[in-house]
Amino acid sequence: TVIGVLASGRGSNLQAIVDAIEAGRLDAKIGAVISDNPEANVLKRMTAADIPTLCIDRRQFANRHEFEAAVAEELNIRHVELVVLAGFMRILTSYFIDRFAGKIMNIHPALLPAFPGEDAQQQAVDYGAKVSGCTVHFVDEGMDTGPIILQEAVPVLEDDTAETLSDRILHAEHILYPRALALYCEGRLKVEGRRVRIIETE
Ligand code: GRF
Repeated sequence: TVIGVLASGRGSNLQAIVDAIEAGRLDAKIGAVISDNPEANVLKRMTAADIPTLCIDRRQFANRHEFEAAVAEELNIRHVELVVLAGFMRILTSYFIDRFAGKIMNIHPALLPAFPGEDAQQQAVDYGAKVSGCTVHFVDEGMDTGPIILQEAVPVLEDDTAETLSDRILHAEHILYPRALALYCEGRLKVEGRRVRIIETE
């Protein structure tokens, strides 16, 4: 499966995906890494790792539609079959989502439907939650609302700050995202309405 990764920042989840591919745990090929942010650390990281990366700067486009059309075009040129959002800090419109219907995944640093949107770890701390975690899900038009593929829980400790909780969640993310992608690439995810069934192997 050829995957295209959209990322805006640090790129640690992308790194975990690259590592899983190299270790033979994930049978995928990264066709493109696209960042909307020219400063993103992820661009430096991947250029060093010899992975095709490009920056599509939102500010160079008149509107969201044109920006998304440019991203979709690059993904299509590279025959991307699955779009992987890894710290991509933009909301995609239905225009883009329809073009890759059922073929966009995201990871969110909370146990959805709890704490959607930005600063999910801070939200969990502020709320006084005793557990949080991460969720890999398919992307639909809503904000972090698409069908859930995998989740992993982590404890929220008494002394946690958003930062310490983020670190614990991030560690779980790096295991969960490659696992979810492997299930997809093995053809083992079956979406039935809101529910994603994982097909067992023999
Ligand atoms: C992760 O916490 C992910 O859950 C969220 O954005 C962060 C990206 O981190 N969507 P990184 O760029 O993969 O290091």
